[in-house]
Amino acid sequence: MPEDQPRVVVARAADEHGEVALARRGEVVELVVDGVFAMDTVHTATEAALATLALARVPGEGLRAVVGGLGLGFTVRALLDEPRVDRVDVVELHAPLVAWARDGLVPSLAGVLDDRRVAVLVADVLDAVPALPPGSVDVLLLDVDNGPGFLVHPRNAAVYGPPFLATAARALTARGVVAVWSADPSPGLAAALAATWRSVETATLPVERDGRAFAYTVYLAGGSRSPA
Ligand SMILES: C[S@@+](CC[C@H](N)C(=O)[O-])C[C@H]1O[C@@H](n2cnc3c(N)ncnc32)[C@H](O)[C@@H]1O
Repeated sequence: MPEDQPRVVVARAADEHGEVALARRGEVVELVVDGVFAMDTVHTATEAALATLALARVPGEGLRAVVGGLGLGFTVRALLDEPRVDRVDVVELHAPLVAWARDGLVPSLAGVLDDRRVAVLVADVLDAVPALPPGSVDVLLLDVDNGPGFLVHPRNAAVYGPPFLATAARALTARGVVAVWSADPSPGLAAALAATWRSVETATLPVERDGRAFAYTVYLAGGSRSPA
């Protein structure tokens, strides 16, 4: 965030999962989940790349996507920019964030939830993904933390483990791809994905923030070892 501008908390609310807050410093918007920095709008190309890298690997039309979670909406917007996408189901844990988006408090989400292809489910991905019908999803995008090494909720550790990933694999179509965003390379996540899918790719996306170099990473996997 620009340090010469005052930081103003735009909205703050608590629910049964913890607190979520939206702050602004000048034009930059920041999302804080349960006291943990989740993201801001300074560098958002990699959130969009989570969607575009996955879409590039899925052939055909009439694609159905599922995204967890909503955040500031860059991943969902990138999906909506692709005309081959027919439907986007967004799973977001924090109801207040969805309400702020609908009330126009999140500039980057303007119009996103009004798109007729979008439906929002306020739920935990740990519950929502296992409940998806088998073979129903072409693109499953997971960005609920800063990655497996930097969780916003301790319970989210299960998102990166083989039991949950196996439920994700069941939900995918034969052409389907799962993609996971991480602020750091995670060999453990790559191994967990490889236990479930035949093809696993690592896309390293270098970003410089405040003079420091980061290797944001998107993991992509497809071709389930146990097709639905
Ligand atoms: C880093 S942000 C997502 C950023 C998003 N990709 C974007 O483009 O703006 C993480 C989001 O996941 C949500 N979240 C965290 N844990 C979750 C869970 N277990 N299930 C669903 N959503 C979750 C957070 O509330 C937050 O909105």
